[in-house]
Amino acid sequence: MTQQKTILRALAGETLPTPPIWMMRQAGRYLPEYKATRAQAGDFLSLCYNPELAAEVTLQPIRRYGFDAAILFADILLLPQALGADLWFVTGEGPRLSTITTADELAQLKPLDAIHDTLNPVYETVKILSQELPKETTLIGFAGAPWTVATYMIAGKGTPDQGPAHALLRENRPVFEGIIDRITDGTIAYLSKQIEAGAEVVKLFDSWAGSLADQDFIDFSVNPMQRIIAALKAAHPGIPVIAFPRGAGTRNVGMHAATGADCIALDDGVDAAWAAEHVQIHGCVQGNLKSSHMVTGGADLVAETRRICAAFSKGPHIFNLGHGITPDASPDNVQLMIDTVRGG
Ligand code: CP3
Repeated sequence: MTQQKTILRALAGETLPTPPIWMMRQAGRYLPEYKATRAQAGDFLSLCYNPELAAEVTLQPIRRYGFDAAILFADILLLPQALGADLWFVTGEGPRLSTITTADELAQLKPLDAIHDTLNPVYETVKILSQELPKETTLIGFAGAPWTVATYMIAGKGTPDQGPAHALLRENRPVFEGIIDRITDGTIAYLSKQIEAGAEVVKLFDSWAGSLADQDFIDFSVNPMQRIIAALKAAHPGIPVIAFPRGAGTRNVGMHAATGADCIALDDGVDAAWAAEHVQIHGCVQGNLKSSHMVTGGADLVAETRRICAAFSKGPHIFNLGHGITPDASPDNVQLMIDTVRGG
């Protein structure tokens, strides 16, 4: 059957005259309508677990801009919470979790079949979205990759260098590996349910992959993602997967084959012309405009957008930012980026 949705066509390896486009964190605080719904929900987690309101904020950027994909509104830290970690968000600072660093704490995590009690509202959001999205819009589900999720579970918060997770890996490798394995199994179960509820693509965010060196990068970024992708594709044949090993740099070369992902999302640290030659030759790529252009706009935004589109024009490409859009971005700059991608 011929695939109609542009994102699915790009993920299947097709080179399109105009790349499909969506944006990481496209539902977020740069949009006044997001802030209004967020205020209605109360706090961020209440919004994540309210299917009607989570679906509403997912739809807002689709209504405003007509992006080619919607990404489920949720967070990578809902899975640790479902596994039994306490989770809360401190305004202006970010997430906080109860820490897991010992064999006892690992043993106290909930069994896998119990995670859905917490995560059911997320699947409900996916179901609402698969009914309400325009027929040309692709619905993307997601989870954090095990290493990135583990860095938050071990430190209890975001850390600039992921020091606590690296320390546990050195000091107690069995417990560290146990945490990675538990997250890997949980992610397979979580994403399978998202797919069953209607997600048409799933994305794995390994936001801190760049801090893993050498064999650790293979063992704890590449291999867990490979295991998740293989399990998902065995259970849901044909499900396309996007992997985002942020900070991987030249290690993005060969990543399609190593992970089994259909698309590699590129951060803004890799040059598009280089990536076209060394990464895109192996499959679809997504990226990689610097998010700061959404704040500064103007001629630089237009020139950079055109440069990236031109560099990736000879292969399958999904236009996106290199990382999430920031709260200080201007909604008008997002429109300018879209007009540039679609209008030349
Ligand atoms: O892309 C999307 O629009 C989908 C929804 C989404 C969110 N977080 C919503 C969110 C996705 C895919 C994420 C992923 C996520 N969450 C990552 C990986 C991607 C990345 O950015 O590297 C990480 C590391 C997290 C953990 C997390 N969640 C942090 C560190 C924070 C605080 C950031 C901040 O700026 O305050 C969050 C909160 C969060 N997740 C917000 C949103 C829209 C802001 C919450 C708010 O409304 O106050």
